[in-house]
Amino acid sequence: MPTPGTRLAGKTALVTGAARGIGAAIARAFAAEAARVIVTDIDVEGGQATASAIGGTFARLDVASEAGWDEIASRFPALDVLVNNAGITGFEGPLEGAPPAHDPESARLADWRAVHAVNLDGTFLGCRYGIRAMRARGAGSIINISSRSGLVGIPMAAAYASSKAAIRNHTKSVALYCAGQGLNIRCNSIHPAAVMTPMWEPMLGTGPDRADREAALVADTPLRRFGRPEEVAALAVLLASDEAAYMTGAELTIDGGILAGSAAPPG
Ligand SMILES: NC(=O)c1ccc[n+]([C@@H]2O[C@H](COP(=O)([O-])OP(=O)(O)OC[C@H]3O[C@@H](n4cnc5c(N)ncnc54)[C@H](O)[C@@H]3O)[C@@H](O)[C@H]2O)c1
Repeated sequence: MPTPGTRLAGKTALVTGAARGIGAAIARAFAAEAARVIVTDIDVEGGQATASAIGGTFARLDVASEAGWDEIASRFPALDVLVNNAGITGFEGPLEGAPPAHDPESARLADWRAVHAVNLDGTFLGCRYGIRAMRARGAGSIINISSRSGLVGIPMAAAYASSKAAIRNHTKSVALYCAGQGLNIRCNSIHPAAVMTPMWEPMLGTGPDRADREAALVADTPLRRFGRPEEVAALAVLLASDEAAYMTGAELTIDGGILAGSAAPPG
């Protein structure tokens, strides 16, 4: 838990997918910096738990639902900070049986669309709501959680990688649009990799080889460990705060150094 501060005092922030993982850590970090936090998720129980632990407000929101965002807009018409964090890999189901194929040759259109509906449509709808909710005050910060997978190709998770790459680009369109409108609404993307959250559970499994799988997954990470959700949350606090007033359209990697080099280094 970060030391309580006031870096976000007076700001109202909405975080999607905040029942657990990175979203929950961001909600906690925002509250610790004195923001009023609106916790949203499709997981009602988890979302309520996050909200009550930080004195925030919970609202159920499926980010892929336009009607859901309309309800949010009527309940929370004004906002200072929005974090479009909710995301899925498409491999959320239990590990039994073969995982669905998401490679470019055999991915099913329905699976492709399901991943894009949450990750990309959800971010588009969120940004649209965020701009409208920040327009009256003429200022705000929109933070889109993309991924390392939005910057490089991921052959076996092509839908996820495509959706995250589109989030990166849409972030820049939003940043330029807002600036062009004379609005001080900033929009930036965060690109995490290998952050230990429940998202990794299907890949780690529960068997005796779990520790080996975990070690193998970070073997090529320069810092040789998984990141912590709180480390991503710290970056979100910076982008949400007025300290980042000159940052818009930026993409920030937080990946233990993975993207600093190449898998085929010159030596
Ligand atoms: N953990 C990582 O290593 C990592 C790496 C890169 C990017 N990310 C991104 O960070 C974000 C958070 O990931 P995480 O690891 O905390 O995942 P997670 O699976 O632990 O949490 C995701 C949360 O989103 C919620 N959610 C799923 N679908 C939703 C929907 N349609 N509407 C609203 N909420 C929904 C889930 O209920 C859950 O609470 C995601 O966008 C993910 O792609 C994570």
